Amino acid sequence: MGLDLATLRRGCVREGGLADLEHHASIDSTNRRAAELGRAGTRAPVLVLADEQTAGRGRQGRTWESPRSENFYGSFLLRPDVAPARIPPLTLVAALAVRDAIEEMAVPGASIKWPNDLLLDGRKTAGILTEMESAASGVAFVVIGIGVNLNLQAEEIPAELADKATSLAIASGRPVDRAAFVEALSNHLLRRLPAFVTDGFEPFRGEYETHHALAGREVEVAGSGGERGRVVGVDADGALVLETSAGRRAVHAGEVSLAAAY
Ligand code: BTN
Repeated sequence: MGLDLATLRRGCVREGGLADLEHHASIDSTNRRAAELGRAGTRAPVLVLADEQTAGRGRQGRTWESPRSENFYGSFLLRPDVAPARIPPLTLVAALAVRDAIEEMAVPGASIKWPNDLLLDGRKTAGILTEMESAASGVAFVVIGIGVNLNLQAEEIPAELADKATSLAIASGRPVDRAAFVEALSNHLLRRLPAFVTDGFEPFRGEYETHHALAGREVEVAGSGGERGRVVGVDADGALVLETSAGRRAVHAGEVSLAAAY
């Protein structure tokens, strides 16, 4: 079903909400387009939405399959007034917003796998790719790109991902209203921004830990010399805190997976 853009605009473009919303039937990447708007000086916040992406980008150089399946492919262009070094945990705050929006669609039980994957029944249903451009004066703009499998069907998932990926529709057994999801996500993200700008990640730490899928689990971090440890939590910078054989360690980046049994 196509999006009713006029209704969507009425719900999202307002004081305290989006300054604008741009929709594409097909585009290479909404992150690329949002950055283009950022460089052109467009007033934020803007949401760039697409029905499909032909070159969707994932984390760590991966591609994000983006078929025309009534999913959410969108990028928020933001201009938060904070130092560039304070931006990284914004992606964890975005994960909280996605979790809330999933819950608002009456799909319970979504959890977050650090830093920003959303899981349902232990399988990935959403991912976030945050990109920033800085200027001499600080952050020029941030693009928070979010892909959510809303209505993806089981037969559309490639065989090699069958036990790793899911969608809201698969998990709940019902279709999800994409327009309602767009509005919910926009609201849940933008309402968190003022506290993030003034106080950083700290106000969100407890909420994040409540929904953290890896809490207390033994994990292995790829790209950090294969570091292993038990997840203690996240710190005020959004780093993953591990109890390792060498003591407590804060992991700032990397791909985390459950460790194989010792
Ligand atoms: C991940 O690898 O988990 C992050 C995936 C992010 C995909 C979204 S879809 C909308 C936006 N545009 C892109 O090109 N990527 C992000």
